[in-house]
Amino acid sequence: MPIRQLSARGVRNLAPLVLLPHPRVNFIYGNNGSGKTSVLESVHLLSSGKSFRTHQLKHILNRDDDRLEVSIDLADSPDGEPGDSLYSLRLKNGDHLFRLNGSVLGSQADAATRLPVLVIEPNTFKLLSGSPEERRQFMDWGVFHVEASFIEQWRTFRSLLKQRNAVLKQKELEWLDVWNEGFIEAAEKIDDYRRDYLQRFKPEFDRTLKLLDPELEVGLSYYPGWEKNTPLADVLKKQAERELQLGFTQAGPHRAEIRIKSDKQNAADVLSRGQQKTVVAALKLAQGILFKESTGSPPIYLVDDLASELDGAHRLALCQVLEDLKCQVFITSIEKGQVLDTWQPAEYKVFHVEQGNVTEE
Ligand SMILES: Nc1ncnc2c1ncn2[C@@H]1O[C@H](COP(=O)(O)OP(=O)(O)OP(=O)(O)O)[C@@H](O)[C@H]1O
Ligand SMILES: [Mg+2]
Repeated sequence: MPIRQLSARGVRNLAPLVLLPHPRVNFIYGNNGSGKTSVLESVHLLSSGKSFRTHQLKHILNRDDDRLEVSIDLADSPDGEPGDSLYSLRLKNGDHLFRLNGSVLGSQADAATRLPVLVIEPNTFKLLSGSPEERRQFMDWGVFHVEASFIEQWRTFRSLLKQRNAVLKQKELEWLDVWNEGFIEAAEKIDDYRRDYLQRFKPEFDRTLKLLDPELEVGLSYYPGWEKNTPLADVLKKQAERELQLGFTQAGPHRAEIRIKSDKQNAADVLSRGQQKTVVAALKLAQGILFKESTGSPPIYLVDDLASELDGAHRLALCQVLEDLKCQVFITSIEKGQVLDTWQPAEYKVFHVEQGNVTEE
């Protein structure tokens, strides 16, 4: 469901903020350093418990403040179900509290389910050039949101992996076969979830990329985390000696990734920055389209600095896919016209940010 109200205080340079966004398109513009990204960061923080630009949350807390609070009220569902309320409090000493509808949150996954958020920002090209972990997390965001039992399966797998690693470290050879059985079973389930997801995802990605840039040829291939087309049991048997030496598990779904190639080369090595941003946008948009197909409503998009790296035609194409998705979207830019000159959606609100103050126009 879209955000009905966003309140924040203690977030970077932002003055205490109460925002009533439009359920569809929200333009946020302002000079460098005015606080645009910080608005998006507040939303992201409630969804994932993390920032998309720093690993250390202490940097988000305003330098002169000792508490950071963000709360979001979501719109009621079309059948009249009252919208969820999410609230996060972080203190300077690191203590934090998260409430969902007034009760302490069980796990961050619950917040992500209520407030599904996808980000497209200037650093998103790292999804192509960064470590396999980034692409694995991207894929798992999709699997998690379309397959409710994935998270439980993943937790089971993680705990088996930990136990198997302990056995390897202690060189308890006699226990290895015992642990292998459960490990392989859990690994194959994760692999099945991911394969099913990617089978649906690939055609959606191809279609979306064509809309954004008909010239770009990019292929996705799935690497399960071990030798393709070989049973994991055989791989583990073959690698047993080496794994005992190393003391950890080398093959398994914790090593999976999606490989993204253009003309048989890594897309990150051959595509221009703008092309890379377009490919990443297609990945994120396709993910949102599948999400909507599975859950009935679209995720919320945070598009930071839309204009960077993209020319007018590519900006417009991206915005049109967002419009077709009928999602709530927050788009930042430095100048108001950078987006509005190329795209005038049917319904939208404009917010201006000036030295940490956000005002609706
Ligand atoms: N912990 C903090 N406390 C106070 N101010 C901070 C803190 N962290 C960052 N800032 C400042 O907050 C301001 C807002 O940053 P933000 O990244 O949101 O700006 P922006 O509008 O997105 O700018 P740009 O157009 O350059 O991307 C910056 O001036 C930054 O220096
Ligand atoms: Mg910014």
